[in-house]
Amino acid sequence: MPSNANLWKPFKNLFERRSDRPLPPLEADLDYTQLPRSLARSLAVFQLGESGGGTVVSQARASRLDAVDDEYVSALAHFVAEEHRHASMLAICVRLLGGDLIRTNWTAKLFVFGRRLIGLRLKILVLLAAEVVGLCYYRLIASRLPPCNLRDWLLEIAADEASHLEFHCAFFRSQVRGQVSRFAFRSMWWSLMTISEFVVLIDHRRALRDLYIDRSDVRAAWRSYRQIVVSAVLEPSPESKSASSAACVSTAVPG
Ligand SMILES: [Fe+2]
Ligand SMILES: [Fe+2]
Repeated sequence: MPSNANLWKPFKNLFERRSDRPLPPLEADLDYTQLPRSLARSLAVFQLGESGGGTVVSQARASRLDAVDDEYVSALAHFVAEEHRHASMLAICVRLLGGDLIRTNWTAKLFVFGRRLIGLRLKILVLLAAEVVGLCYYRLIASRLPPCNLRDWLLEIAADEASHLEFHCAFFRSQVRGQVSRFAFRSMWWSLMTISEFVVLIDHRRALRDLYIDRSDVRAAWRSYRQIVVSAVLEPSPESKSASSAACVSTAVPG
């Protein structure tokens, strides 16, 4: 494979640095069973969604796309490992909330279906949509919780998702060239986000209602990130174009 080390190395280094973070202890710092039961079920759905994704690494390894090299595959493997850590953290959250983990769910099935679509670019686009959904959702849930470990963990996961979002945007900056591919990216991205918005608002409606989170706030957050992604991919700043530092993540993504 050709080398694009300067493109992916900052992400690989960032994910590597974070790879030895311990899991939080399974100890309650407050009585989480007082929180709505629907929150446990909602986080169990996200836990399931964070659990898979390993096949994308082997697909990237076999890919002949421009800019997909050993460094990218290595960064992608670290990214998948971070998602699995999120699954473990969310499993702890669900247990503390008195809920049960789930093995299947219709939105998770839809997400898996999307990930299995042919083509690495389509898979990464589905993962990018999942980053936006997760990032906004974890932050909104955290904003409704009292100060506690659960809130801190959700914010930690959301911070990881922000860097994943930048990682996938860098991938699309390396792939989207010319007017036709720009149009294709914009259309598919908007369609995917519209579908994601629809299914997630239905599936998580009880938790949103019980935590007094207005659907319009969720939609506003998603739409803002939807546009952030379009700008990051199609109208990148000189800094993000070079992707010379994954630190641009913290400034590109609003709180
Ligand atoms: Fe995640
Ligand atoms: Fe992520």
